[in-house]
Amino acid sequence: MKRLENRKAVITGAAQGIGQAIAARLAHEGADIAVLDLNLEAAENAASTIATETGRRAVAVKANVTDEDSVSAAMDEAAQKLGGLDLLVNNAGVLKSSFICDFPKKDWDFVTGVNLTGAFLCLKHAARHMIDGGKGSIVVIGSRSGKKGGLWNSAYAASKFGVIGLVQCVALDLAPHGIRANVICPGNALDTPLWKDLAVQYSKKLDMTPAEVIDYYRARVPLKRGCDVKDIANLAVFLSSDEASYMTGQAINVTGGEIMH
Ligand SMILES: NC(=O)c1ccc[n+]([C@@H]2O[C@H](COP(=O)([O-])OP(=O)(O)OC[C@H]3O[C@@H](n4cnc5c(N)ncnc54)[C@H](O)[C@@H]3O)[C@@H](O)[C@H]2O)c1
Repeated sequence: MKRLENRKAVITGAAQGIGQAIAARLAHEGADIAVLDLNLEAAENAASTIATETGRRAVAVKANVTDEDSVSAAMDEAAQKLGGLDLLVNNAGVLKSSFICDFPKKDWDFVTGVNLTGAFLCLKHAARHMIDGGKGSIVVIGSRSGKKGGLWNSAYAASKFGVIGLVQCVALDLAPHGIRANVICPGNALDTPLWKDLAVQYSKKLDMTPAEVIDYYRARVPLKRGCDVKDIANLAVFLSSDEASYMTGQAINVTGGEIMH
């Protein structure tokens, strides 16, 4: 028996990057998967690959996590296609970086809109279905930036600190319904598409080439490597499984020792 046998999981922002890796891993552990993303074509490709590689059901669902009607409809569609909903991995996220005095409000609204308001909406509408089923697990992908501020990072850090508060409250709201909620705080996953873009943004603030930026961030990690998507997927599986049945409201670091609180 696999650890997530026949669970029904929605993973947001799963058309690429960390979300795609988590979705594939949950399917390998026996879950049926809804790949929810703004980019339907990429979500369909990811779902089709997961279904082929794992033999589990994997469907693509289009949604914009900042739009409540879209999220509500997508969670209904996922639950209907999968035959219920037990697991949510709230992963969709974006990052814009600027010195505070130059930070465009539109970038603040974009980052907090996807990362924090989007998480609120996805948790709200996934929880409806989990309450109906009488059980569930929610995992939110936060960040090391949800534990420690960083240069030029006000919007992203505020959104990632914010999801920890959101999850602590949701854990309390949903505990009587048998639903747990936790946050994973990954370190810098230096090989992801998000980091390729980030290295270019950070090259301005650090006056380095993008390749030097990557080396600089790797050198800061006590275990001397970037976070691998597998490191995050390992913890997502554990927190989603019954092995974590006594854990709720937690925000757990996967940072190679970079963050210790
Ligand atoms: N890459 C890292 O180093 C790193 C480190 C710590 C935490 N994280 C967090 O992990 C998560 C995933 O990061 P990633 O590196 O895989 O990012 P990514 O940019 O590779 O993928 C993000 C996905 O989210 C989707 N998305 C964006 N806006 C959306 C919206 N409004 N509605 C629906 N889908 C939307 C995108 O289409 C994309 O498929 C994010 O929450 C990020 O903050 C990433």
